[in-house]
Amino acid sequence: MTTNRTFTMIKPDAVEKGVIGPILEKINAAGFKIVAMKMTRLTKAGASAFYEIHKERPFFGELVDFITSGPIVAVILEKENAVEDFRVLIGSTNPEDAAEGTIRKLYAESIGSNAIHGSDSNENAQIEGAFHFSGREVFSGAFL
Ligand code: RTP
Ligand code: MG
Repeated sequence: MTTNRTFTMIKPDAVEKGVIGPILEKINAAGFKIVAMKMTRLTKAGASAFYEIHKERPFFGELVDFITSGPIVAVILEKENAVEDFRVLIGSTNPEDAAEGTIRKLYAESIGSNAIHGSDSNENAQIEGAFHFSGREVFSGAFL
């Protein structure tokens, strides 16, 4: 398994805000190379599968509704120590707790609408990247 890759999604709130460009610029400036990227939209079934790990949590329904509310940008990134360094770059889940200069501090609205996802382990980076780029039919195809 490759251990120097992570997976990210620019979430619907950030896409709606028009900050795909600034976010990708910060990611590149931090030394990450884009390995794969696409703009797409998850179906409810796709989102439920992607967030399977959170299915027992009280916010699961809101999470699925939010992530399917508009297009996302799915990206596989490469860099030494990618998973950990990327979590630092995006900042805490709740933007109120995120450090200055982090992507969530700059662009997130709330703990639910928090602009960007970052894999939390090498294993999940591999699973999540494969989820989006292995050709499975989990996307609605409808952007609007
Ligand atoms: P992510 O997976 O999106 O990178 O975020 P994370 O690791 O920082 O947070 P995680 O615990 O994996 O939660 C996944 C997403 O669920 C939403 N959430 N809402 N309302 C709530 O209390 C709550 N807690 C988490 C967030 O959008 C979070 O990114
Ligand atoms: Mg997470």
